[in-house]
Amino acid sequence: MPTDKNRTVYLKDYQPTDFIIETVDLVFDLGETMTTVGSEIRMRRRPGADPSAPLVFDGDGLALSGLALDGKPLLPERYDSDADTLTVRDLPEDGAFTLTVKTRINPTANSQLLGLYRTNGIYSTQCEAEGFRRITYFYDRPDVLAVYTVTIIADEKTCPLLLSNGNMVEEQTLDDGRHMARWHDPFPKPSYLFALVAGDLAMIEDRFTTMSGRDVTLRVYVEHGKAERAGYAMDALKRAMKWDEERFGREYDLDIFMIVAVSDFNMGAMENKGLNIFNDRLILADPETATDDDYARIEAVVAHEYFHNWTGNRITCRDWFQLSLKEGLTVYREHEFSADQRSRPVVRVDEVKFLRAHQFPEDGGPLAHPVRPTEYVEIDNFYTTTVYEKGSEVSRMIATLLGPDGFRQGLDLFFERHDGGAVTIEDYLKCFEEATGHDLTHFALWYHQAGTPVISVASAYDEDKRELTLTLGQTTTPTPGEKVKKPLHIPLRVGLIGPNGDNMEPSAITGGEHRKDVLELTEDEQTFVFEGIGARPAISVNRDFSAPVKIRFDQSREDRLRIAGAETDLVARWDTINALALETLVKAAGDVKAGRSVTIDGELGDVLIATAEDDALEPAFRALALTLPSELDIGRAIVDNVDPDAIHTARSAVFAAIAQAGGDSFARLTTAMENPRTFSPDAESAGRRALTNAALALAVAGEGDPARANRAYGHADNMTDMLAAMRILAHQFAGSAEAEDALSDFRRRFAGEPLVLDKWFSTLATVPGAQTLERVAALMGDDAFDETNPNRVRALIGAFASSNPTGFNRDDGAGYNFFADFILTSDKRNATLTARLMTAMRSFEALEPTRQALARRQIERIAAHDDLSRNLRDIVDRMLK
Ligand code: ARG
Ligand code: ZN
Repeated sequence: MPTDKNRTVYLKDYQPTDFIIETVDLVFDLGETMTTVGSEIRMRRRPGADPSAPLVFDGDGLALSGLALDGKPLLPERYDSDADTLTVRDLPEDGAFTLTVKTRINPTANSQLLGLYRTNGIYSTQCEAEGFRRITYFYDRPDVLAVYTVTIIADEKTCPLLLSNGNMVEEQTLDDGRHMARWHDPFPKPSYLFALVAGDLAMIEDRFTTMSGRDVTLRVYVEHGKAERAGYAMDALKRAMKWDEERFGREYDLDIFMIVAVSDFNMGAMENKGLNIFNDRLILADPETATDDDYARIEAVVAHEYFHNWTGNRITCRDWFQLSLKEGLTVYREHEFSADQRSRPVVRVDEVKFLRAHQFPEDGGPLAHPVRPTEYVEIDNFYTTTVYEKGSEVSRMIATLLGPDGFRQGLDLFFERHDGGAVTIEDYLKCFEEATGHDLTHFALWYHQAGTPVISVASAYDEDKRELTLTLGQTTTPTPGEKVKKPLHIPLRVGLIGPNGDNMEPSAITGGEHRKDVLELTEDEQTFVFEGIGARPAISVNRDFSAPVKIRFDQSREDRLRIAGAETDLVARWDTINALALETLVKAAGDVKAGRSVTIDGELGDVLIATAEDDALEPAFRALALTLPSELDIGRAIVDNVDPDAIHTARSAVFAAIAQAGGDSFARLTTAMENPRTFSPDAESAGRRALTNAALALAVAGEGDPARANRAYGHADNMTDMLAAMRILAHQFAGSAEAEDALSDFRRRFAGEPLVLDKWFSTLATVPGAQTLERVAALMGDDAFDETNPNRVRALIGAFASSNPTGFNRDDGAGYNFFADFILTSDKRNATLTARLMTAMRSFEALEPTRQALARRQIERIAAHDDLSRNLRDIVDRMLK
């Protein structure tokens, strides 16, 4: 790993390179432990650059084995090289030359899974953000775009398949059982989009005709024996291609589009030009091994990576500070795609839940940073929910402020103006301004200021004047390095619900800018007046979650019940139901902590039961309403002095009380949903399964008997139902014979299915209670556990640390100690994965004092090591600051 561990990179230091790269010719001679990489780079000096400036290339852990300029070996006095840099001096006066660089690398020893690595007999690459420099010396930065030709030479038997970006232009059999393939990508691209795959894989093929009539070959490569499981990903790809043409006018540009699924992968997936590489859990699906959530993720991520072809590849980032330019926008496009393919409000509720569970805590903790940061130590640590999901919300707000047509016009201009460019977030915003005439100067602060705004709402109704007055305030709490916060430009969608449940339309809104029902907040405090309101309405704020903010509104119980029962904006309706539940749970946790008995108001149960039974609502929505906030959700709502045991006790009590109150309904709902005999992963069928399983969890809790879940496990004919039943047994009846039987049956049945065993590991790792730590420790010795596989590590260790509040936060600190030990060994192997795992502890300061001190001690123990990776060093230092 790199030696300059504490370097900080600043946005203000951005400088273009002194040289421009025109073409790169790469030759890979693949060997398991020794691969040689030849790189022939045609370059010229940038007009205006200092003629005496040397050429400085990035490297990471490289050894130079050959260097030539215009075909002649370079004398040692003309260059310097070490593991991380190559510097060449005294370049030709005319500034045009070809540099030939040779390196040798060991793909089998590459446990970081960054650069070129070989696992399970497959060679593959991950170059974003700075992995290409682990392959050869180069300008490994996104603003250097070049045309690549890639020649791959390998053993024909073990590597019948040789893939890279673009189109294959040549194939040949060589001596000694070797063969070669040559690929050419006509689109200039930055090094992070380079990809290579070699090995022996199965493949499915299909075709797509683009809107202008071009024929594209589509291929999905997976491990042998798994080709039938690639069909859903292929289907999702075709739908995504069609959707991007219809919605945004974007057409695919090469003759072939390939996806490769690999089993050892640090992230979700990667959008390499024409050759996307995926974590196999985001490709492989069939009814027996994948849940409905898996299907939905696969659809979303296949689309996400495909959408990058325009937002990311055709137009890329000038530097990594602009990461959200491609990621935020692409997540937004992905979200819109999912909303069009599925139920829009249900998809939106899932996004809101995700944002609150992951991005809000990041924005409120020690790792908070703006959507466009201005400095970083390790860019790998900035592939965050802030850059991705908050970035998406920012693009969504632009669409809300400009309207769908304005947004489309701005984006059209962006594609037209910047195609082939490496640009900034300012360039992006300017397109919307120029296309629509809107001034986004104030709005741009969303990119630059960290923290989640809190909107306070106060209302007054004047019956005589028929006026409703809304006073809206906004504040953002300080984040690391940013004490003073300015007011943001916030689009807040507001609905008024009349006494009979109807939407009330004001005759006018005064007091500030608004676009139909969207109020534009721009100041610390503003008052809006709604005229022509004949009766006191219930006010529904932040409909459709129009802004990623927290709302503080001391609303009457009566108004909230009206919204929970009648709001036509289902996102806001869910939010109110959820808030009612959360309030009860927080109060219950306080009761437990104070030694009082838990009392539950009947109204919450009534609302949940009525919503679950309401046939006018879609099952997926009813399932969402019926799912109580998690222990983690409750902890986040409590904010500080969090006691996970009290929360667990309180939630169990509330859950049991609701289960008792609605026993008959829940029992009925477990069998009320008819699904066709043959499994279909469509959203409606998935919604019915979700409602059945949410009801099942409550039904068995009411019955105090696992029998119903046990039967459901036995009858399940798909992974969604089977996993749901197993989780209910394992979590609600931990230690029972029924739970242990289901768990060992599942383990046996899926012994040869690593991705399914991940579900088993996670189920076990999240069983509430102190005893789970011993089980997790023992599971590290399970034959199926493999500490070199990121999915396995996340399924067991990641799930335990991030999703088991009582088990991980044991009051003796043993959970933290175990985790710190794991982190320290894992960091040597895979820094990207380890630094990400470590963020599970980022909110430790919210814990009650005893646990907080124990957690801090372990984070400090990690920080005391002086040989941490730059990734982990950066995370723990920021956590302790
Ligand atoms: N660009 C990829 C995506 O589609 C993710 C790459 C993550 N790489 C990293 N070094 N963290 O979102
Ligand atoms: Zn992405």
